[in-house]
Amino acid sequence: MSKHFPPDFLWGVAASAFQTEGATHEDGRGQSVWDDYSHTPGRTVNGDTADIACDHYHRYPEDIALMRRLGVKAYRLSIAWPRILPDGKGRINPLGLDFYDRVIDLLLHEGITPWICLHHWDMPVAVEAAGGWRTRDTAAVFADYAAVVARHFADRVKYYAPINEPNVIPWVAYNLGRHAPGRQSRDACLRAVHHLNLAHGLTVSALRAEVSGAQIGSIISLGPVHPQHDDGPHRQAQVLGECLWRRVMVDPLWLGRYPEPLASELAPLIQPDDMARIQQKMDFFGLNHYNRVYVGPNANASWGVAETAPPPGLPLTDVNWFIDPSAFLEQIHDTARRYGNPPIYITENGAAFPDALRPDRRVVDDARIDYFAGYLAAMHQAIAEGCDVRGYFAWSLMDNFEWGRGYSKRFGLVYTDYPTLQRIPKQSYYWLQQVIKNNALSYRG
Ligand code: BG6
Repeated sequence: MSKHFPPDFLWGVAASAFQTEGATHEDGRGQSVWDDYSHTPGRTVNGDTADIACDHYHRYPEDIALMRRLGVKAYRLSIAWPRILPDGKGRINPLGLDFYDRVIDLLLHEGITPWICLHHWDMPVAVEAAGGWRTRDTAAVFADYAAVVARHFADRVKYYAPINEPNVIPWVAYNLGRHAPGRQSRDACLRAVHHLNLAHGLTVSALRAEVSGAQIGSIISLGPVHPQHDDGPHRQAQVLGECLWRRVMVDPLWLGRYPEPLASELAPLIQPDDMARIQQKMDFFGLNHYNRVYVGPNANASWGVAETAPPPGLPLTDVNWFIDPSAFLEQIHDTARRYGNPPIYITENGAAFPDALRPDRRVVDDARIDYFAGYLAAMHQAIAEGCDVRGYFAWSLMDNFEWGRGYSKRFGLVYTDYPTLQRIPKQSYYWLQQVIKNNALSYRG
């Protein structure tokens, strides 16, 4: 039985600059916090760096051809801030803009709409040295960078999102220290929360001023948060965890307020008019979804709440995330309910599996096909039940640099053979190609 998607449903793929481009020292690109972090011994699996990554910087024509053959009509890319402004502000690097001109012009030529995300975590080191997201000034510095990009591409690009998964930055980069710049500070975390939200708001204003007809959204990673046990302390941990890791970066943008209990802690950072600056008109809600998490009280964690061991039994991906399409359905419904049923685009969803290149040069990734079939069916159900989901971007076109996991985990529809940089479409690529062609899940679904 086929499950058809709405006629104008948008199919796309997503990727980010730092994870794919490589060429980190070419054409005047500045240094990013992720260059420093990944070059610090012990920070990434196998000491992997993104100096070469997928070499998308030079091989983008091949990658765009892969997108065209896949049939996607949109590509979510990020712009590397240090390519455009090597020092984070001030001097513009024309060669950085040239690179994205080439990419965007080719995408448009192939009938693929570019969706620009202005920041996917590769902050210029000069900005971090001046305080990074701990400093209020960074919000305005970021909006100025966004304006440079928007001014340049306004005639060709209408879809923008300021920051990828801003919720990951305070918690993972500034509190847990597992992403660049690797800080472990509760205070830095709180400051980053507010300054990222402010950066979002100032950037939306800057984009509206530069781009006529702009379509602007936020991108956030959300998944249901559940108490590990059904008792008082665990339920409290659930409320706090959801607030800390998710709502604190969504409610201000969409509802104009911080959720309690964090609102009072953040109050000293909030200046008059900040909340109005943050809550701008939005055109879409970009929802990244990967995982459901379980939480419980933990005296050693900041704010006393931490993820707990998951209940046994559910199948896992190669990064130990649950394979559980019902979590996706739950998350789409929850987003629609909390934030006024906005137009939703799934701006990332996908899974890592231990893919192997066979001697016949095929990659048979049935587990990923099953994953997509389950998640797309859940999304189809959400649409049928009234959620306004308008598009889906698979993460990711090809295997790439997975942050702290280096090249050890593969999320791609296309296999990246790192020694040769050859791209080999996996079976899931051909499967998704059929789904897109039919605009329907017709088998395994
Ligand atoms: C998302 C990010 O959180 O998850 C991507 O936006 C990332 O950049 C993806 O690659 C997979 O996560 P991880 O932690 O395995 O790199």
